[in-house]
Amino acid sequence: MSLLLNYIIDKISAANALHGKKLKKNIASFDSSYYERVNAFLSKYELMLQKNDKTIDFAIDCYLQMLADVNYETVQFVRTGRYSSHSFEDVRKKVYSNPEVMTYYMHGLMLSQFLWAHHYKILEAFIENLSRHHSNINNYLEIGGGHGLYLSEAIRILGPDKDYTLIDISPSSIEMTKEWLGNTNVNYLIQDVFDYNPKNKFDFISMGEVLEHVENPKALLIKVSSLLTENGYLWITTPTNAPAIDHIYLFRNTNDIHQVITEAGFDIIEKTTAYAEDVSDEVAEKFKVSMMYAALLKKH
Ligand SMILES: C[S@@+](CC[C@H](N)C(=O)[O-])C[C@H]1O[C@@H](n2cnc3c(N)ncnc32)[C@H](O)[C@@H]1O
Repeated sequence: MSLLLNYIIDKISAANALHGKKLKKNIASFDSSYYERVNAFLSKYELMLQKNDKTIDFAIDCYLQMLADVNYETVQFVRTGRYSSHSFEDVRKKVYSNPEVMTYYMHGLMLSQFLWAHHYKILEAFIENLSRHHSNINNYLEIGGGHGLYLSEAIRILGPDKDYTLIDISPSSIEMTKEWLGNTNVNYLIQDVFDYNPKNKFDFISMGEVLEHVENPKALLIKVSSLLTENGYLWITTPTNAPAIDHIYLFRNTNDIHQVITEAGFDIIEKTTAYAEDVSDEVAEKFKVSMMYAALLKKH
């Protein structure tokens, strides 16, 4: 394990021993390519933090704050069977337009991509899927980029000479992505995707963890379909049973997600799923263990 990764895990373990134990187990389960990826990520991330007069301790605090939010929301979810937020407008005010909340949330989420087994598996699946289907992609749209990690992976795979557009409703997400990408050429838009009506359509659209943030995910997929070329690919990820401060729409299982995808006029080309805990399907279903779902889609 690298020194920095060790430091992060030790500091998280000191604050929350049980969670630290889980992270160690996650990391032990990853293959050797993980270390190459996480070391490259952490070197770049440390530089970005330094440029903003911050250290990795800041990022660890962000992660712990995000974790505290998830734990709080989980207690509400177990008690009521529902997510605590129901209105997009409320979440926009409370989270997306609140730089303090968005900053710790997006830094925490960025670290989770390399600390949580189910998030890392989805990141790997994205890299594999985009690498396999990268021909004929001239313009690329990311919706709800958040921290910007997925967009940086797309640019690494496709090369810097393609047309890249990022749309996100949160000014804080756009700011963090700009910091993460440096002076890469990207068309940045601070906007609700429902209001986005560009002249051109996109060959590849990536929309990670946004479907559960809207009141009507089917309407969102229909909107996104209108932005995609006829032969274009859409990459989506969304969780089931995953309470968070900005999650509105509850997908209870894979069938719920498939229904929305099909009704919006998409075919599933490939899919990946990963539970947040190392449990069987039966246990996951019984105890509503959160699952990440990812799929590469094409229009019917
Ligand atoms: C949880 S983050 C996802 C980050 C990243 N894509 C990932 O998969 O880890 C959700 C992002 O979607 C943005 N978002 C939510 N609703 C949106 C909308 N209607 N239009 C544009 N962006 C939206 C939020 O501001 C936030 O940056």
